Amino acid sequence: MSNVFNVDPAGEAPPYPVLLAETRRDVMSHVEEVWKPSWKRAVLIADDTTRELFAEPLENALSDRGLSPLVCSFAPGEESKMRATKAAIEDRMLEAGVDRSACVVAIGGGIVLDVAGFVAATFMRGLPHINVATTLLAQVDAAIGGKTAVNTPRGKNLIGAIHHPRAVIIDTAALASLDDVDLRCGLAEAVKHAVLSDAALFDRLEAWARDADDLRPPRDVLTRCIAIKADVVADDDRDRGKRNILNYGHTVAHAIEHATGHATPHGYAVAMGMVVESRLAARAGRFPADDLERLVALLEALGLPAAPGCAFEAASPYLSRDKKSRGGDIRCAIPERIGTTVAEDDGTWTRVVSAEAIREAWT
Ligand SMILES: NC(=O)c1ccc[n+]([C@@H]2O[C@H](COP(=O)([O-])OP(=O)(O)OC[C@H]3O[C@@H](n4cnc5c(N)ncnc54)[C@H](O)[C@@H]3O)[C@@H](O)[C@H]2O)c1
Repeated sequence: MSNVFNVDPAGEAPPYPVLLAETRRDVMSHVEEVWKPSWKRAVLIADDTTRELFAEPLENALSDRGLSPLVCSFAPGEESKMRATKAAIEDRMLEAGVDRSACVVAIGGGIVLDVAGFVAATFMRGLPHINVATTLLAQVDAAIGGKTAVNTPRGKNLIGAIHHPRAVIIDTAALASLDDVDLRCGLAEAVKHAVLSDAALFDRLEAWARDADDLRPPRDVLTRCIAIKADVVADDDRDRGKRNILNYGHTVAHAIEHATGHATPHGYAVAMGMVVESRLAARAGRFPADDLERLVALLEALGLPAAPGCAFEAASPYLSRDKKSRGGDIRCAIPERIGTTVAEDDGTWTRVVSAEAIREAWT
């Protein structure tokens, strides 16, 4: 097995491998390697695009093994990441007689993995699932760590569960068909990992961004990002402490996504959010101004936006609806400087910030 990492959530969930697949054939063989004899049926969940591009060979391979795969798909996009989509998949599974001996195989980007993982978390009180990550964002972030969720009109990811996969397969060959916007979304999360905990990775991204003629990151960048995510998850698998640092940029990002009716891609919103939240910290003397300049320069070199895509007034109603919010306050996770994040004085990993401070940091 090209087992890059073992994620050990340390809680009740068993450790699971993250496997790199360089070819379509690798994806199939990894699924076969991790498949348990007790899993008698396969449920493949994709969006319409990933179903068309990637599901068929897997469906055939699982069919050949007598696993009668049921394939469920939905329209791509954040608008589909909602309770109605989850319910429609569950109804199809019930109609098809899926029971607790099934395993869910999610094939796609963060949206498919979030929805399919949530289906797996609650169907008959929980089915095992395997994540086949086909976007860069899913590969460096969403596929690992067991966070699953859907959005509601009141905010992003507000309804969900922590349900770790049994294996994660990183389909690197799939990146060949991914468009530049979606590659940039993944790069935004890679920059986030670097700012949070790896100054050398930040240097590497800067050097690569200067010379890159293609937005697909080199393998060492990909594996370093996977390692960072796996480490943070191992520290705090239930998202009660240090794992909150992964929300860097996301308080502002989620508000911008909502304010723009999800027209701002998630990674672009994260780029904007990292800049606003770091500027806020820099103005309070808690993030070096030079680091803020480097962050803006790297995002721009990667073709990511550094300025918010909507007015503060449009985003502000959503800031305190974030999951990190407690009693209506606004909380952000902000690193100390590039490569280092430390706990706040009260031992938590997020700090309360005022709406006024965010407004001042908006531009
Ligand atoms: N669970 C987590 O820990 C976590 C972490 C980060 C982000 N997320 C969530 O992830 C979501 C964003 O994920 P995303 O950026 O992967 O978006 P996505 O899942 O919508 O994928 C982007 C687009 O690319 C298409 N696509 C997927 N793979 C492809 C391929 N290989 N070739 C061509 N097209 C392909 C999809 O059909 C979709 O249209 C957000 O909802 C965010 O909240 C979750």
